[in-house]
Amino acid sequence: FVYPLLATLAAYALGSLSFAVIVSRAMGLNDPRTFGSKNPGATNVLRSGSKAAAIITLLLDALKGWLPVVLVKWVGAPYGLQEGTLALVGLAAFLGHLYPVFFRFIGGKGVATALGVIVGINPWLGLAVGATWLIVAFFFRYSSLASLVAAVFAPVYYVFGDGVAWYADNRVVLSMALMSGLLVWRHAENISRLFKGTESRLGQKKKGA
Ligand code: G3P
Repeated sequence: FVYPLLATLAAYALGSLSFAVIVSRAMGLNDPRTFGSKNPGATNVLRSGSKAAAIITLLLDALKGWLPVVLVKWVGAPYGLQEGTLALVGLAAFLGHLYPVFFRFIGGKGVATALGVIVGINPWLGLAVGATWLIVAFFFRYSSLASLVAAVFAPVYYVFGDGVAWYADNRVVLSMALMSGLLVWRHAENISRLFKGTESRLGQKKKGA
């Protein structure tokens, strides 16, 4: 009981590192919480004009979701850390990103971190979800729409892919469904902008979006 609790707390702390803010600060860029969608995430860092900063943010935000999951998988077994803990630490890292303890609980929408968690759960699943994001982003040029579609499909892919395999685990399904639900909820403003037609497109710099 102690180890899963410690692992969950550590994952939450790691998830709380808001890399959009940290990377922007380190690279001398404006704080992403002050422009564009005001969201501390890779998409909004991209609106600063620095592709490099956006990519680094994306990778680090994904890494903080991936790492706790694979650590539980790789080194957790001797301590009795298994699927339940894996589901818990993934969710904890994701919640850390949404409600970061180091940034007055004002965090992002969780797209990159959720993707990292999913890659940790199963790289093939990660590939499928990442490809879904890319396809939607390619055709519609909306980062948010791509994230929403990928979020809806992620648990579905798991259930119909991994889920039918022998290691299917309800706790992992629950964790993924919770992440997807929260992710969609965090995109409420994006959804209303998408309906109004005012959402900013990828590759287009627009203030107040
Ligand atoms: O990563 C979040 C993305 O789906 C939308 O970001 O800045 O357009 O609200 P943003």
